[in-house]
Amino acid sequence: MRLAVTDRCNLRCFYCMPEDGLNWLSRSGLMSYEEMLRACRLLVKMGIEKIRITGGEPFVRKDIMLLLAGLAKIDGLKELSMTTNGVLTAPHIPEMKALGIKSVNLSLDTLDANRFFTITRRDEFASVMHTLDELLKHDIEVKINAVVMDGKNTRDIIPMVELTKDLPVSVRFIEEMPFNGDGHVYQGLSWDYVRILNEITSHYPAIKKLTDPAYSTAYNYQIPGHRGTVGIIAAYSRTFCGTCNRIRITPEGTLKNCLYDDGVLNIKDLMRSGISDNELEQNLLNAFSHRVADGWEAERKRVEKNGVHESMATIGG
Ligand code: 5AD
Ligand code: SF4
Repeated sequence: MRLAVTDRCNLRCFYCMPEDGLNWLSRSGLMSYEEMLRACRLLVKMGIEKIRITGGEPFVRKDIMLLLAGLAKIDGLKELSMTTNGVLTAPHIPEMKALGIKSVNLSLDTLDANRFFTITRRDEFASVMHTLDELLKHDIEVKINAVVMDGKNTRDIIPMVELTKDLPVSVRFIEEMPFNGDGHVYQGLSWDYVRILNEITSHYPAIKKLTDPAYSTAYNYQIPGHRGTVGIIAAYSRTFCGTCNRIRITPEGTLKNCLYDDGVLNIKDLMRSGISDNELEQNLLNAFSHRVADGWEAERKRVEKNGVHESMATIGG
């Protein structure tokens, strides 16, 4: 499960949100930490084994470590992890480690400070690189998420693969998805997973396919002799829907069976109406049973309703 704790962010990655930000949710529009913990306890009892905290940027929500500490105590939860942009993360790493967080996804689309500024509209490259250093120093598994954008960072693909030579990181290239929050219409996808793989293979002909873990959304590879690995996530082509087992909860408490769906249930509203855990469980099971076949079907249904104008920050990557 991906739990998005805020829609706010201290960066403005252009593929995610407009320069002026979004129409932020009000405090009462967000799930409280108590509500999140209640929902997570129930969902873990129902069989969820892994929770990933996302946003927005989780570290811009006040006292986020309190939520993590509460989640870390849930009996039966096997894995707690986070996705962060790395701007505010570094000072919290020792405590994250102490709470048992073993893996962090770091969003980083380029190794060039100027291109970082162009993409994120903020001058924070140095703080993100510092976070990367600190995570590795603390032996936390790092996956770097890089969204591949035509004309913006494709020249970073090979240098980012080169990072895996000396660093034990997994660099994952993600197809850009139409979730930039401004209703911008996409004219197909120029850099799909096949093109990304071709680019990498042409520089590293010896690249080897690895066995992908169960339910993986990434195709994983390794360059012989490199410490780290390379992944490609066909987030737009949606080739992995058949084995996807993720559910998502947005900052306002909407349950999603798919990144591309419109939300199937609002658990915050249910909890605020005084529902019992038993009733909430029935509602959740009912929502899960309406999971559609794949992301294409989910998108079709959503576009029929209101088009795909959402930002990744309100979805929880
Ligand atoms: N397309 C693909 N990936 C995206 N992300 C955010 N917006 C998009 C998009 N439009 C990624 C971020 C982050 C992850 C949570 O989602 O890079 O790493
Ligand atoms: Fe912030 Fe992540 Fe969106 Fe970038 S992609 S603006 S870091 S939430």
